[in-house]
Amino acid sequence: VSAPAVPPAAAPAAAPASPPEEKLRELGLYPWFRVVEASDGPTVIIDGRRLVNLASNNYLALANDARLIDAATAAMRRWGIGVTGSRALNGNAAAGAELERRVAAFTGAEAAVLFPSGYHAMAGAVPIAARGCERIVHAARAHGSIADAARAASRETGTFDDFDALEPLLHGSRALVVVEGVSAADGRIAPLGEIAALCARHGHRLLIDDSHGFGVVGRRGRGTLDHSGVAIGEDVVLVTTLSKTLASNGGFAAGTRRLAEQLRNEATPLLYSVGLTPAAAAGAQAALDVLETDDALPARLAANVAAFAEGLQARGIPHRHHGTPVFTVAAGSDLRVLRTVAMLFERGVFSVPLTAAAATPAVRLSIIATHDGQQLGDALQALDETVTALRLREVRP
Ligand SMILES: Cc1ncc(COP(=O)(O)O)c(C=O)c1O
Repeated sequence: VSAPAVPPAAAPAAAPASPPEEKLRELGLYPWFRVVEASDGPTVIIDGRRLVNLASNNYLALANDARLIDAATAAMRRWGIGVTGSRALNGNAAAGAELERRVAAFTGAEAAVLFPSGYHAMAGAVPIAARGCERIVHAARAHGSIADAARAASRETGTFDDFDALEPLLHGSRALVVVEGVSAADGRIAPLGEIAALCARHGHRLLIDDSHGFGVVGRRGRGTLDHSGVAIGEDVVLVTTLSKTLASNGGFAAGTRRLAEQLRNEATPLLYSVGLTPAAAAGAQAALDVLETDDALPARLAANVAAFAEGLQARGIPHRHHGTPVFTVAAGSDLRVLRTVAMLFERGVFSVPLTAAAATPAVRLSIIATHDGQQLGDALQALDETVTALRLREVRP
């Protein structure tokens, strides 16, 4: 499977596979760029059919939350639809400036800098955080934004397949070590306590991409650093999106005041791209309000995740699960991944293909707070039938 021209958002470097798009379409196996005609969170309408949506990163269901929609609407009325320029020059709406202060306080960082997206934040932060480092170390199948940013930083790059293989790479010259707090592919929580201690011992700098941990892991969703008891500081930098659990758009890097100043003055993905829309900034602020005050949604998410795990277990469906809202069902090969996704689609479930470029070939399923029992039951039934029809019980997860 070749590297993707455009990796689908939820699936890190999940590749539009060869054979080419046309062939896959003929076979009814092309799963990318589905047009979602409507979405209420737990379900989507695609090709006029309502499906259970197990393909989002909308873990707390905030994308459809009236509190966020009201805040975004009010901001749009006050400041307009867009900011029409770079934050440095003319696009730094008050809603964004306030959000920047709030995410710094929320994550316990001295300062934070907002970018137009998580991808931009990574592209801006890695080359600057890598100053004084001769090397960059990241997972071999890290999210595409990490690999791209590392390339842009023009450093010697070391990659590891598993956290067990990270330690040997830490001997040697000073490195910037980039780790996903929660793996985008399979939802595994990185052992950040150990990794941070190793980095400190060897004099390396650690940069965490917490796009899938921020909002769902740690106290009130403060993220994987909080979950692991690691504080942001001179040699611990956080980069995350605001587009997954927080259900908005944008991303930020958080660290020391000095780092923030460098980013503001030198990060070209910030300087040469537009500021956040007021609606996105106000929506993200309303999402923070929910994280700070609402106990019901995290409780519902936890209950749904537990129920889905029990359902898979009860039906003997082989899967991997690391306690986060993400589940994977191994399919053995890229072609079988595409067949599984297509069969689930026929049976009313929207899921994400993870091809070998991204991970172990598997189907990625994510649970959100507002799935109801019927939807989870229907999805389990569809999975049971699919796993049996495609003989996936024989595949080693
Ligand atoms: C691990 C990871 N990092 C970064 C990003 C990029 O975030 P954004 O979609 O805001 O550009 C994503 C989302 O695709 C992601 O999953």
